[in-house]
Amino acid sequence: MSRLDLPDLHGLGERLRTTHYGRSLELRALTDSTNDDARSAAREGAPRGHVVVADAQRRGRGSQGRTWDSPAGSDLYLSIVERLALPLDRLAPLTLAVGVGVAQTVEAARLDTRVKWPNDVWVEGRKIAGILVETSASENRSGPLVIGIGLGVNRVEWPAELEPIATSIRRESGRTQERVAILAALLANVESWVNRYADDGIAPILEALEPRLALRGSRVRCGDVIGVLSGLSPSGAICLETERGTLELLSGTLRPLE
Ligand code: BTN
Repeated sequence: MSRLDLPDLHGLGERLRTTHYGRSLELRALTDSTNDDARSAAREGAPRGHVVVADAQRRGRGSQGRTWDSPAGSDLYLSIVERLALPLDRLAPLTLAVGVGVAQTVEAARLDTRVKWPNDVWVEGRKIAGILVETSASENRSGPLVIGIGLGVNRVEWPAELEPIATSIRRESGRTQERVAILAALLANVESWVNRYADDGIAPILEALEPRLALRGSRVRCGDVIGVLSGLSPSGAICLETERGTLELLSGTLRPLE
């Protein structure tokens, strides 16, 4: 199941510090979407922690039907097969747990990193990573999960519309990064936070998010609701202080208003 097309990622095996993530691995030079590849692999019986990494994607997918710009040679696009059988109402916080793992990976480059609820990671107000967790559900339990992550690693050029809002570790730190080292660290951090969520629930995830939450105290819009972001509820919902009082929102996209 392995197509070794990416020379700079060949050393991953020796660097892995995980129990499951990346122990089964598929490397692709170009694919449509690693989330689709991981979903197919899961259907064919790929084990927990099977990872698909691509150098470039033709149809990289973001949340809410957006596309994920995925050029070759610089960044990381990967999807992890996760076989935790979670009730559907415990699925949303999994994205937050993954966000903490991604943020920790970026912080290792000594960058001040924030998690923008629910699925973005930011540095200096720019998006450095996005997370897309997908599943097929049956009888109120998730089927195999696919955890998709796009992380800006060495990119220095973006299309005009992304240039002011996107970034990479290299852009922020001024240093070219070794993609394989970032990938190994990312897999270890994400596995560790997903395990933490599965074992101990949402409390440790919220504790880790607390100092990293983007836009706290800012006026934001989420769908039709406008308010000041005051924090996260005990269930991982976003709390907005509005004219109608505190509203807790379980999903949506936050947009800063000032
Ligand atoms: C978002 O911020 O909207 C989520 C972006 C997720 C992008 C990653 S790249 C690897 C994986 N494959 C995809 O098609 N999407 C995810």
